[in-house]
Amino acid sequence: MHSFRHRRGVLHCEDVSLVELAERYDTPLYVYSLATLERHYRVFDEAFSGVPHIICFAVKANPCLAILDILARKGAGADIVSGGELFRALRAGMDPSKIVYSGVGKRPEEMAQAVESSILMFNIESFQELDALNEVAGRMKSRARVALRVNPDVDPRTHPYVATGLRMSKFGIRHDSAVEGYERARSHENIDVVGIDCHIGSQLTELGPFVDAVRRLRELVLDLRGRGFEIRYLDVGGGLGITYDVEDPPSPAEYGEAIRKELDLEDITLILEPGRNLVGNAGILLTRVLYTKETETKSFAIVDAGMNDLLRPSLYDAYHAIVPVRDEERPVRRMDVVGPICESGDFLAQEREIPELRPGDLVAVMSAGAYGFSMASTYNSRPLAAEVLVSDSDASLVRERGTYEDLLRGERTSG
Ligand code: LLP
Repeated sequence: MHSFRHRRGVLHCEDVSLVELAERYDTPLYVYSLATLERHYRVFDEAFSGVPHIICFAVKANPCLAILDILARKGAGADIVSGGELFRALRAGMDPSKIVYSGVGKRPEEMAQAVESSILMFNIESFQELDALNEVAGRMKSRARVALRVNPDVDPRTHPYVATGLRMSKFGIRHDSAVEGYERARSHENIDVVGIDCHIGSQLTELGPFVDAVRRLRELVLDLRGRGFEIRYLDVGGGLGITYDVEDPPSPAEYGEAIRKELDLEDITLILEPGRNLVGNAGILLTRVLYTKETETKSFAIVDAGMNDLLRPSLYDAYHAIVPVRDEERPVRRMDVVGPICESGDFLAQEREIPELRPGDLVAVMSAGAYGFSMASTYNSRPLAAEVLVSDSDASLVRERGTYEDLLRGERTSG
């Protein structure tokens, strides 16, 4: 479900024409729909109604302050993976008691920053990290709450770069070392064990892997409780997929039901870390065709957004629908939609059957709200795109377009 529709032949975000937005803010431009975001949050939250739960939005999917602010007001917390994400989440007004900190490479300063902020818990990914956190908390004469991120060794059947729950992955603690890890945590003076965590991958389109993972975690919770550990939080991670093309992922309601069915546990608060599911289809990348070009074998539309603005197609061969903003009668052509970056891997779509694109056309790259701007860079010294949030007929600039001066910020010549 999203709020990007053609009206009188022009693509709108809610009640705002994308032609107008391009005129007002220029391209490339990220455009987010508040109604879509709010609806996705509500549907996800309702899927777990009746069970104690906290939705910790995976900030990495879209760290835009305005988006975090909206989610915070709805009652969401955050799943963070760096000190920078903690800084953003707190700045957006997120309640630290709803913040969980995941990631395999937390630095001591970052840990200290999170202990200082009294976050809900650290999702610990290795024994060394556990020991390091104990030391940091000890130095601060404080205590840190932890869950161990257990690697349940299930195949999420997704792109290998975003599968995280397999035995060979760098994430989490091996399932068969989990009890040893918990005993080690208990032996540490400055650590309080409060939960258990997993995250098996991203863009999952089937329920099976989630169910398998939760089942394995449930068994562990029972085992650990039998050993006297007070496991109060069960964090099932994120990963529920969305429709980019023809995928048909389970709805949040189906996902919620499947998880709830496996979790007949007393005194447990569920933690969910959705990213893509909340924001993916709430955003598009608006770009303009600069030129077209024919070679012997290909037709190219060269647009003003490149892999630096939206990396997913280049990195994962990911599909994003390309929708012309003006709905005009055009012959359908097979085209590559490519950016200005000096790399052959710089494309937004390849061999795509679309209404012929011509110079000056605006196109929307759909489903770009998750891992779009958040993975953008200034490669080729291209300033970062601007971001706009639309609500009904209002559009507000929530991030200014980067400038050339921004590109040089902090740089100096050696002399
Ligand atoms: N929790 C943890 C610990 C994670 O590592 C992630 C994503 C999430 C939650 C949120 O997953 P989601 O609900 O968004 O699937 N850049 C890739 C996706 C990388 C996902 C990394 N971790 C992409 O563009 O597809």
